[in-house]
Amino acid sequence: MQTESLARAINRQQWLKPVEDGLKKGLDQAFAADTERGKPIENALHGVWLGHALHPVLTDIPLGAWTVAFALDLAETCGARRYGPGADAALNIGLVGALGAAATGITDWKEISVEARRVGLVHGVLNTIAAGLYLTSSIQRARGKRQAGRVTALAGFAVAGVSAWLGGHLVYANQIGVARTSETTPPADFVPVIRLDELEEAKPRRVEHEGYPLVLVKKGDRIYALAEKCTHLGGPMSEGELDGDCLRCPWHGSAFSLEDGSVKESPATAPLAVFDARVRQGSVEVRVSRSLGADTGPAGLQK
Ligand code: FES
Repeated sequence: MQTESLARAINRQQWLKPVEDGLKKGLDQAFAADTERGKPIENALHGVWLGHALHPVLTDIPLGAWTVAFALDLAETCGARRYGPGADAALNIGLVGALGAAATGITDWKEISVEARRVGLVHGVLNTIAAGLYLTSSIQRARGKRQAGRVTALAGFAVAGVSAWLGGHLVYANQIGVARTSETTPPADFVPVIRLDELEEAKPRRVEHEGYPLVLVKKGDRIYALAEKCTHLGGPMSEGELDGDCLRCPWHGSAFSLEDGSVKESPATAPLAVFDARVRQGSVEVRVSRSLGADTGPAGLQK
């Protein structure tokens, strides 16, 4: 069965909707219960500190370790009994890695796009089943039932493989965890995009140059120019709100620094592109940032 067909079949399972909705609501409430402590944890689990989604990094640990365990189990089955302890160690390393992958995965799932939510849920359930099988295998091995432990681990490997396949679908087909950027090219040199008197104080404004969308923000004597598409799931930043020195996405609340586009609050993990802006003859001009933080940074109105 093709991944696309499998994903379509999963999406047809309407009976999963109450499970999805209930889990999403429970997670939202859990993280909202103590935002002071919950938000930094959420930022860390999304991978803001890494500048990259953390979940796909951690999933490599169980998948890699369980692949090693599979190979060593095979060697042991073929008579090379000295590989048994190595297989057990790899299996247990994978279990520890699976805990981190689960924590980051469920945090990402909370903010996943609606069309990917059901496949993400099944991906998580399959991972839980795989981890349960590996835990059972680990216990069987500790009790000396090595043959049974190897068979259980093999079942876990098969389930983890199907789940990893769905994980790949979420990344490549649904672009989950991928920084969203525009398909068109931003202006390399300064080009006028709007009259200065059309910009309102502290009100984000969408502009375009040859199909490339940007958002401009006038704040005091500064004009900031950033990419219009949120790097999380492509939300329209011009419909977001100013929050101190940040612009907040209207879809899931990611906050980006006006100054350098860095992520101040998840679920986005990749920064928003920032552009040089200046004012010439009453028009705001923008171009690709050449030296962030130097004199070509966000423009002062006096220029
Ligand atoms: S699209 Fe999700 S935070 Fe912007």
